Amino acid sequence: MKINTAEFVISNSEVSKCPKDPLPEYAFIGRSNVGKSSLINMLTNHKSLAKTSSKPGKTQLINHFKINNNWFLVDLPGYGYAKVSKKSKEVFQQFVTDYFEKREQLVCAFVLIDIRLEAQKIDLEFFTYLGVTEVPFCIIFTKADKVGKTRIHSHIEAYRKQVLASGWEEMPQHFITSATEATGKDELLSFIDEINQE
Ligand code: GTP
Ligand code: MG
Repeated sequence: MKINTAEFVISNSEVSKCPKDPLPEYAFIGRSNVGKSSLINMLTNHKSLAKTSSKPGKTQLINHFKINNNWFLVDLPGYGYAKVSKKSKEVFQQFVTDYFEKREQLVCAFVLIDIRLEAQKIDLEFFTYLGVTEVPFCIIFTKADKVGKTRIHSHIEAYRKQVLASGWEEMPQHFITSATEATGKDELLSFIDEINQE
């Protein structure tokens, strides 16, 4: 699939104020700084459609981007950033969980994982949360440019073992990406395209 148009539509912290269009949407979630916003820019060929930062905690709201006038990419705040106050953590949890539990247009969540790291408790817990909430999800490994190509496979194998050890019967569908090298772009867009055609 080719992306012809990508436009920012709205940012907000209330699911009831998200766009009313009955279009399929795909949300990016994961730990702060894992590369959610950068991946949206890579997929849409924009340098700064979604705001990125080297400091964690940049994206604070639910951001809707309309693609080809036909579907949405949704950039969400990260979780697991220790420096936000307890109060703002609660607010974050509330509106993000509201999003996952109420947003009928959500077709698939992409949970982003830094390929360099071992499986983190917070991510495994988030997979469980999505499972219990019955939100379909895939894993996207990010920053693949930071790992030698020959080591990617062994990283994924180690991750798969940790996911199975945490109680899943199989590893969710996963993609390997780099926002800096545009790795994984065609695979991800084809995956979305196939679902949109269903
Ligand atoms: P929050 O909005 O704070 O939750 O972060 P985020 O997940 O949206 O991360 P963001 O896209 O802002 O990127 C965080 C940092 O990682 C930035 O410095 C990016 O340049 C860097 N980064 C993101 N993706 C990649 C990648 O694929 N490769 C490399 N080398 N750096 C990346
Ligand atoms: Mg962000």
